[in-house]
Amino acid sequence: MKEFRIQPIKNGTVIDHIDSGKALKVIKIMGIDENVTSVVSVIMHVPSSKKDFKDIVKVEDRELNPKELKKIALIAPNATINIIRDYEVAKKTKVKPPEKVSGIVRCANPNCITNARTSMETFEPVEPEFTVESTKPLRLRCVYCERELENPEEHLI
Ligand SMILES: Nc1ncnc2c1ncn2[C@@H]1O[C@H](COP(=O)(O)OP(=O)(O)OP(=O)(O)O)[C@@H](O)[C@H]1O
Ligand SMILES: [Mg+2]
Ligand SMILES: [Zn+2]
Repeated sequence: MKEFRIQPIKNGTVIDHIDSGKALKVIKIMGIDENVTSVVSVIMHVPSSKKDFKDIVKVEDRELNPKELKKIALIAPNATINIIRDYEVAKKTKVKPPEKVSGIVRCANPNCITNARTSMETFEPVEPEFTVESTKPLRLRCVYCERELENPEEHLI
């Protein structure tokens, strides 16, 4: 039988040890869509030694900005970020699941102050902020209205 492999990337980012099933959320966070112009490999449900199964995302010519890193840490708390330079892993870091989450998730409560319209010049918009009550499963509580956010992964900004 012929063996097929993922083409190695020369420069870019490999996000490894993503919780099984979350790879599509990772590429969405990275803004990868039908207009993509670099090689992207999405590998899902790979048997893993550390956990039962994992997903992997490999993106050529791309690094992650701080906001993307924060979002990925929320939905894939075991992920490792491997920077590839000249085909080699030049740098490996583990994401750090945060204790507080500011500005990357929106509160679902329409009456929450973070969703108030800023119609008057005197009002500054209030940046949404949540306490992380647990990472697996992800449970976020709004600092302002104290409601727990249902399906937090669906409320990334
Ligand atoms: N040039 C490359 N192109 C595509 N993927 C790569 C490249 N180099 C490494 N990788 C992938 O990056 C990830 C990390 O590579 P590494 O060699 O550090 O593996 P590892 O020792 O198994 O790491 P870990 O202990 O984090 O699982 C692996 O998924 C590997 O397949
Ligand atoms: Mg490995
Ligand atoms: Zn709220």
